[in-house]
Amino acid sequence: MQKTVPYAKAIDAKYPEQVVIAIARAAGGVCNPITLGWTMITSHEPPMMAVSIGLGRYSLEVFRRAKEFVVAMPSEDQADETMLFGTRSGRDMDKFVAAGTVLEDASEIDCVIMSDATANFECRLVGEMETGDHRIFVGEVVCSHVHPDMPSRLYTAGAGYKMSGIARLG
Ligand SMILES: Cc1cc2nc3c(=O)[nH]c(=O)nc-3n(C[C@H](O)[C@H](O)[C@H](O)COP(=O)(O)O)c2cc1C
Repeated sequence: MQKTVPYAKAIDAKYPEQVVIAIARAAGGVCNPITLGWTMITSHEPPMMAVSIGLGRYSLEVFRRAKEFVVAMPSEDQADETMLFGTRSGRDMDKFVAAGTVLEDASEIDCVIMSDATANFECRLVGEMETGDHRIFVGEVVCSHVHPDMPSRLYTAGAGYKMSGIARLG
C-alpha cells in the first residue's frame, strides 16, 4: 500500500536524473551555459527537445532573446564544470572562460557546442510555455553531434546534486 507523504519527499524518488547543459548567446555576444535537470525529448519527426528554466534566471532572458540554443549532454568527466554552470550566474561571469571549457562553433545556429561532451544538439526555438515558476522552451533539433569516443553521460545521482556517471548498457 502506498504511503501519502509531502511532495518534496516523494519527488526524491526521481534520481538518478539526467543532466544537460543548455547554451544560448547573450546580447553582448557571450554564450552562457546553464545546467538543467528538467529536460526531455518531445518528438522524433522532426526531432524536438524541451528545457525548463526558472523564471528568475539570467538564462531566461538570454533564451528569450536568442530564440535558438544548444542542448549538450555532459560526459561523466565533466562534473566540475557542470556544477559551476549550475551554481554560478552568467550575470556575473563568463562561465565557459571560468571553467576553461573547450568549445567549437555550432554549425546551423549562432552558438557554441562543447567539444568534450557526449553529445550536442543545436535547436531552433519553436515554442515557449510558462509552467508555474519555470518556463519551458521547445526547440527543433537542426544539427546533432557526438564525441567520437561516446563517453558515458553524467547524471545527478541524488538530492544535493550528487553527480555520477552511469555506464551505457549494451
Ligand atoms: C544538477 C543541477 C540541475 C539543475 N536543474 C535546473 C533546471 O532544470 N532548471 C533551472 O532553471 N535551473 C536548474 N538548475 C539551477 C541553475 O543551473 C542555476 O541556477 C544556474 O546558476 C543559473 O545560471 P544563470 O544565472 O547563468 O542562468 C540546476 C542546477 C544543477 C546543479
